[in-house]
Amino acid sequence: MIVLLQSQTPIFKDKTRLSPHYIPPILPHREKQITFLLEAFREVLAKPKSPMRIVQVIGPVGAGKTSSCIRFSEYMEVESQKQNTGLKIVYVNLKLHGSSRVLLYRYLVQQAAPEAYSASLGAEELLLQLINQLQAKKEYAILILDEIDYFLKHTKEPHTVYDLTRLDEFLRPGESSGILGMIFTARSREFYRELDQAELSTLGRIPVEFPVYEAQQIRQILLDRVNEAFQPGAVSTEIVDYIADITVGPMAGGDMRYALDLMLFSGELAVNEGLSKITTEHVRKIVSETLPGATLDDISNLPKQSQLTLFAVVRALKTKKTPYVKLKEVRRNYGVVCEEYHVKTSDDVEESLQDLHDRGIVDIKSLTEIGINGVSAESLGNFLDHLLKKVRQVIDDL
Ligand SMILES: Nc1ncnc2c1ncn2[C@@H]1O[C@H](COP(=O)(O)OP(=O)(O)OP(=O)(O)O)[C@@H](O)[C@H]1O
Ligand SMILES: [Mg+2]
Repeated sequence: MIVLLQSQTPIFKDKTRLSPHYIPPILPHREKQITFLLEAFREVLAKPKSPMRIVQVIGPVGAGKTSSCIRFSEYMEVESQKQNTGLKIVYVNLKLHGSSRVLLYRYLVQQAAPEAYSASLGAEELLLQLINQLQAKKEYAILILDEIDYFLKHTKEPHTVYDLTRLDEFLRPGESSGILGMIFTARSREFYRELDQAELSTLGRIPVEFPVYEAQQIRQILLDRVNEAFQPGAVSTEIVDYIADITVGPMAGGDMRYALDLMLFSGELAVNEGLSKITTEHVRKIVSETLPGATLDDISNLPKQSQLTLFAVVRALKTKKTPYVKLKEVRRNYGVVCEEYHVKTSDDVEESLQDLHDRGIVDIKSLTEIGINGVSAESLGNFLDHLLKKVRQVIDDL
């Protein structure tokens, strides 16, 4: 008898290879960008007293910015181990750890110099403690601030960029802060508008561009993932081509994450139907039920309260069977969801709703008209079922 591993089915060899948390060993079409980052930071690692290196990484949704930064940090850590340098690379997902400037600094200190952390420290003191501790231990850090555009939009604290990029100015000439540099990532240059001239000038002028993937590139990336995730023969090249074409279309705008969600959910649909192959019909059905911008990754990156609130919005919409519901209905459902998951309710459902709105997931026309962005009344039923399943999948993993 053949015993299939838990994630194995006649369709899937290893479903986790399609998860948003999995980063494949090779990131095709991003070699140039990763090499650029490596060269830029190798230089400062060799000369830690040189000025801080600030690099912007700019590219549209799902263009591989986060994955490339993480791969870069792994390569960089190996390099520093070879050179016996105490280097910490602190990656911050600002959608998770950037709800305010002080929370961000606390997180930075906890990650880079936990000994220096104290909850009573104010924002500036946290940064000073961070530098003091790195200097005392002769350690270095590189900070990766992922999604600075979201942070600025959400917190309206633009001087954060200024504080961080001017850390060198606290120092005497020839001294190193221990922070070798920073990478700021954003989906576009629009966030420049939130910054004044002085803040902008500290950011470094030349961004590393992550151009939107073309269909041919998505095809190649998908083929690699298909080989890792699916049983031989379960996904034909026609299916891969079809998903690549949908992904470069105007709705998804080249978002690789959406392409991977389509692969995963189409595969699950085929499994549910007891088939051993994905058909174009499966993909078509999943496309009609999913929305780029509310992928598994987008949902798993939400703070827990926002996940619960999204769950409540979807439940309320499903019960009412209308494209919009009232705040009071969201609140009622929120109470039930929290009870179900044994979570303490928060008084700030509005704040979570605003957060979901800032991320482009929830549409708030008024306090009596709350819906999901981009979902028409006709597709509401199927779409909500699917979204509910995704949110539940993520919350159950907590
Ligand atoms: N070149 C690539 N090869 C393999 N997988 C990739 C590649 N680029 C992106 N992916 C996959 O696509 C998904 C999205 O990539 P990633 O999170 O890096 O995008 P991003 O540019 O950070 O998007 P966002 O702006 O939404 O944060 C990830 O699951 C990642 O594994
Ligand atoms: Mg990202």
